[in-house]
Amino acid sequence: ALRGSFVPKAQKATQRSQYGLQIQASYKVAILGAAGGIGQPLALLVKMSPLVSDLHLYDIANVKGVAADLSHCNTPSQVLDFTGASELGNCLKGVNVVVIPAGVPRKPGMTRDDLFNINANIVKTLVEAVADNCPDAFIHIISNPVNSTVPIAAEVLKQKGVYDPKKLFGVTTLDVVRANTFVAEKKNLKLIDVDVPVVGGHAGITILPLLSKTRPSVSFTDEEVEQLTVRIQNAGTEVVEAKAGAGSATLSMAYAAARFVESSLRALDGDGDVYECSFVQSDLTELPFFASRIKLGRKGIEALIPSDLEGLTDYEQKALEALKPELKASIEKGIAFVQKQP
Ligand code: NAI
Repeated sequence: ALRGSFVPKAQKATQRSQYGLQIQASYKVAILGAAGGIGQPLALLVKMSPLVSDLHLYDIANVKGVAADLSHCNTPSQVLDFTGASELGNCLKGVNVVVIPAGVPRKPGMTRDDLFNINANIVKTLVEAVADNCPDAFIHIISNPVNSTVPIAAEVLKQKGVYDPKKLFGVTTLDVVRANTFVAEKKNLKLIDVDVPVVGGHAGITILPLLSKTRPSVSFTDEEVEQLTVRIQNAGTEVVEAKAGAGSATLSMAYAAARFVESSLRALDGDGDVYECSFVQSDLTELPFFASRIKLGRKGIEALIPSDLEGLTDYEQKALEALKPELKASIEKGIAFVQKQP
């Protein structure tokens, strides 16, 4: 059976440790942009993972204090800080999972694409270092616009001759987390059970929650579908406006990113039942990158799950066709950014 749910597995891991059975804390995780709004709470959540032996925190500023602070938590992982370009290589050596939330967030009135000019360069530089120092690592891209930064990362890795499409992920977990929360609220369901696949990309109308595929099976009126879809697509903007200039989602994002890290570590650790949605290289549609449910294994993506895209409602089918031109343009913008450079 396909199960994208995270919480039951996490509880299983905790229980195992409570009962004294061995959990091998043996994976190295690096967070690039670790002193930021997402980076700090994400580092805390990853510090709580029983699967992590080493937590490497990198930022261009303020990372020493974050690492000193976190290092006092009595959980298994050793925390080390790295700062400045000269320490980036050492931060990445031997790392299994690299998470990249470095870059600027949105302010009210901005789209994710407005961040392109700054964040494209940051992601390019960081992924070059990943290619040189830990080319086998799973790479989780959080920096926006994800629809373009993932293609940027792919091009950089190709240029370096180390691109493995099974190990490059755009983190769209927050869209799934939001969809699960909003659907559970609206339909009065037990939150832990709800799982809504979200496909497409990670900006505006490219975020397509497939409400008809919600587990457990639940029916929605046309009005509910419209309301929920629009709310899930604009949920990031809801937070940007509430923060009124102080940034975008950080705490819910850290929660979602930690879930994706934990899923990746479980997959690396041999769990054969790990499913998540992510924006990845894909042949499920005519677009070269597409977010869908994927099965994760020791070597990264084991399978893309096509079944969510079968038997869509008319509403979903129309929304899928409508998102393709925008998503295609964002992907091409990312690819062109790397290819046009000398
Ligand atoms: P922030 O500004 O609070 O933190 C960013 C951190 O990156 C800062 O500590 C900064 O020093 C660091 N940084 C900048 N350039 C760097 C470089 N070259 N190397 C290493 N670190 C560098 O921003 P926040 O709120 O943490 O957001 C980070 C990114 O995550 C933004 O691009 C935002 O749009 C994106 N985001 C993505 C989401 C998703 O669902 N994928 C959701 C929310 C935000």
